[in-house]
Amino acid sequence: MMRLPSSLTTRLALAYGLATAAILVSVAAYLSSALSTQLEGRDESELVGEVLLVRHLLREVRSEAEIRADTHRFADIAMGHEGLILVVRTRQGEPLVTLNPRNETVPPLRVLPATTQPEKRMLQTWRPKNGVPSRGIAALGQLGDSDKAVEIVVLRDAGYRVALVREYRHQVLWATLCGAAVAAGLGLVLARRALRPLRRMAADAAAVTTSRLATRLDVGRAPAELRELAGALNDMLARLQDSFSRLSQFSADLAHDFRTPISNLIGQTQVTLAQSRATAEYEALLESNLEEYERLARMIENMLFLARADHAQVALDVRTLDAREELDKMAEYFEAVAADREVTLSVIGSAPVQADQTLLRRAVTNLLDNALRHAPAGSMVQVDVGRVPAAGGASTSIRVTNAGPVIPPETLPHIFGRFYRADPSRRNSAASTGLGLAIVDTIMRLHGGSVTVRSADGVTVFMLQFPSEAIAAPAVPFAASVS
Ligand SMILES: Nc1ncnc2c1ncn2[C@@H]1O[C@H](COP(=O)(O)OP(=O)(O)O)[C@@H](O)[C@H]1O
Ligand SMILES: [Mg+2]
Repeated sequence: MMRLPSSLTTRLALAYGLATAAILVSVAAYLSSALSTQLEGRDESELVGEVLLVRHLLREVRSEAEIRADTHRFADIAMGHEGLILVVRTRQGEPLVTLNPRNETVPPLRVLPATTQPEKRMLQTWRPKNGVPSRGIAALGQLGDSDKAVEIVVLRDAGYRVALVREYRHQVLWATLCGAAVAAGLGLVLARRALRPLRRMAADAAAVTTSRLATRLDVGRAPAELRELAGALNDMLARLQDSFSRLSQFSADLAHDFRTPISNLIGQTQVTLAQSRATAEYEALLESNLEEYERLARMIENMLFLARADHAQVALDVRTLDAREELDKMAEYFEAVAADREVTLSVIGSAPVQADQTLLRRAVTNLLDNALRHAPAGSMVQVDVGRVPAAGGASTSIRVTNAGPVIPPETLPHIFGRFYRADPSRRNSAASTGLGLAIVDTIMRLHGGSVTVRSADGVTVFMLQFPSEAIAAPAVPFAASVS
């Protein structure tokens, strides 16, 4: 198969030229066949006319001798008719008038009686030396008003007509070729002009760099056909810009968050090494260092989890779990921490939940960790689970509620972001990585669910909502929440 040229301009110009050539060729073919038919019709009428003319002249002569004496009267008839052959001869075949410049052999034709009026349909076919099928007619003509008659043969060599049409075709072919070439050239100019907005768009796109991601293509200036493309490219740029700025923010935060534990490690170690110390002091240093190492390890592990989730590399093992059972186990795990803070932890309600066990535990752990940290001494942290009506059935919700300082409304939209702490004093706290809620959010999105927060009137509630699914278990109404 022939390969198309890669340039759109060339393709359009070629298509333009070919289409024009096709149109011109068909018009030319039609015209030349019409011309050929018309010329043929005219030749046939002429043949009939010649017979009538010769008969008319014969009426004016009385004998064959008179014809012989005045042949040029007959010769005049054929003047100016190319390829016309006229023979007048006696009925015995003796020629009286012969106009046959190319010396064609006169074919034996059926001779019409003198009383028959010649018509086109009586024409007969013969072949001259050039082999082109031609037409001719033979008829008797009366001399004067006697009953003597001579034979008239009129032939027309069609070769000249065929040559004429052929020449016409040649000329038209050349005109067609020239027309197609002109059309292709015109197409080239037009296509180039029409594609100018595309080149402009490419130039605009070429100007986009990472430091100039805010650049947008001019949709208004683009022609209608390219507007959609320009819009899509702009959307792509917006997404890239967003991801890019989040990535830059992320790496800036990352550097910042790694700097604190590492400078702690360096500082403490330098101070301790400045002089020789007792074994107990070295032990204390190592213990303190261990804490920082653990914090770093936790951060790295959390970040790896988020990175894997970003690249959809976390395999979910979703099954139907007894949410109450899971929550009870976690409450037990946090019992000591709660007692330490003088906070009571209670779990109410029950419902089945479709989730990955490890990830569910991890999400609830992060919420409980935050709730216990922010709950004032003597208060209660409540975890309740239940079914809430949702589109397409009922979904399972897990709510973690604690009393304590509320999260300022202006920071609420950010707390699920990576490395975000609503309270700046937690920046350098060893317990805080600012990744806890980001992980909860990621886990819920992996499950197709969501996490929402409400923090007002001294109460903060985080709610995990798992998507509704046809779980074959009786729905348990949601327990009343603590306020
Ligand atoms: N139950 C809560 N009550 C008040 N503030 C909270 C609560 N949970 C989270 N926050 C705020 O949201 C921020 C982000 O939480 P998180 O992502 O878990 O980070 P971290 O706990 O490591 O600081 C916290 O720093 C805190 O300011
Ligand atoms: Mg946390």
